[in-house]
Amino acid sequence: MDIELTHITPKLYKGNLVVLYGTEVSDRSLPLFKKEIEYLKAKRAEGMDSIVTFDRVPYHIYVVNFSGEELAHITQEKLRRAADKVVSTLKEAKQDTVAVVGEGVITDEVIAFVEGIRLADYSFDRYKNKKPEHVTTVLIDSTFLSQEELDRNVKLWNRIEWCRERVNTPVADLNAETFAAELETTAKELGVGCTVFDKKKIEALRMGGLLAVNKGSVDEPRFVVLEYSPKRAVNEKPLALVGKGVMYDTGGLNIKPEDYMQEMKSDMAAAATMASVVFAAAENKLPVKLVAFLPLTDNRPGFNAYAADDVLTMYDGTTVEVVNTDAEGRLILADAIAYAVANYQPELLIDAATLTGAAVRAIGTFGIAAMQQNADNPFNLLRIMGNQVYERIAEFPFWKEYEKLIESEVADIKNCGIAQAGTITAGKFLSHFAKETPYIHLDIAGVAFFSKKQEYYAPGASGYGIRLLYAFLQTYDVLKNKNK
Ligand code: BES
Ligand code: ZN
Ligand code: ZN
Repeated sequence: MDIELTHITPKLYKGNLVVLYGTEVSDRSLPLFKKEIEYLKAKRAEGMDSIVTFDRVPYHIYVVNFSGEELAHITQEKLRRAADKVVSTLKEAKQDTVAVVGEGVITDEVIAFVEGIRLADYSFDRYKNKKPEHVTTVLIDSTFLSQEELDRNVKLWNRIEWCRERVNTPVADLNAETFAAELETTAKELGVGCTVFDKKKIEALRMGGLLAVNKGSVDEPRFVVLEYSPKRAVNEKPLALVGKGVMYDTGGLNIKPEDYMQEMKSDMAAAATMASVVFAAAENKLPVKLVAFLPLTDNRPGFNAYAADDVLTMYDGTTVEVVNTDAEGRLILADAIAYAVANYQPELLIDAATLTGAAVRAIGTFGIAAMQQNADNPFNLLRIMGNQVYERIAEFPFWKEYEKLIESEVADIKNCGIAQAGTITAGKFLSHFAKETPYIHLDIAGVAFFSKKQEYYAPGASGYGIRLLYAFLQTYDVLKNKNK
């Protein structure tokens, strides 16, 4: 999709036109006839948040009514959703070009609307012989934002799309080896440091979790480290990002029943998300030193597959009793977290994972289940930025008592507890490996992949979490000022 800034005079423009009509009740620029303006005003009086459409055969004018008087992030989310409606209408009408102008609208609102267009227009077309309709060109009136501001956003949106493409691709066409190779190529292009550990290296490092999960697979595991070190970073010690990269999760020998296996190509969504965040940060030169750790493997019940009752020795020496081979994500993440802490001494470690079905049962598909230890300030910032970009985090308790639930009879800890509080015991398992490092855990199981269309997201991968973490990085320096 081309997104261009250009000077647009609404009254002269011939084509599909969106008018974002905000607070300022001036109608000077509206390309409407008197009767139409009266009709529009009547609609606005009935209530905001409507789209009023006017025919200009073969085009349409879509007036998106909104009141800029609500909290900024609520208005912006409404505009993303309005964009979704406009995109659907354009596709139905087989129209591929639209121009966006505004009356009483500010930069952030225009950006939110165009972001909505980008997110809503995406669909996974790779395997379709007949490609679906798309919006190919968006023209934005240049009075609302600078080229630089647009470029930065476009880079972020491109990374979200990049993530969704990888997550939607099935394991047959994207396994640990090919994903790692692609990460390496992309990192090189962007000047991001990239180290790929193959199976031999992973064995030498004794990453017992990653190796165990990989045992049933015919594909080798990979462990990818991405390093972005800007010249003038606000942090000395890096911020570590860890992402679960289970290329496909069959459950292993504790095989997933019936339709529970479907959609498990998305079990590497967090790895793709963290890679996207590092790449977007590098592309836009954010002044934060980052290192991402991405353990990659599929989880399969092959002949030599790891089994319940196995005891594993993890990278940091912790022994783990396997209770269920379907709780594999925490095993590969444990090695990654331990490796990050031991070798990089990060000032903060954030992991993301499609970790538990329990997270989805607890809060559904409307946000991220989040936990933290020793990280009050960054967590609060993350919560604020989550509300801001509407990729929200809900804090779960992380009380000491939960640790009891993963005590093992035969090893230091076990990989899952009882049915209760499954999201929290998973987080507790991981926090064991973070040790004293300020730690935030994001369980994205409910949001990484939608079975049905949800707002501006087509069914499939969402890229949820990228905008959240990117916004967090953009404001990361406020954490530093606090300590001065
Ligand atoms: N990848 C799944 C979690 C998941 C479930 C993600 C549904 C997205 C949607 C994870 O590896 C898993 O299987 N978790 C088990 C843990 C259990 C065995 C303790 C689960 O949630 O059932
Ligand atoms: Zn699993
Ligand atoms: Zn999994």
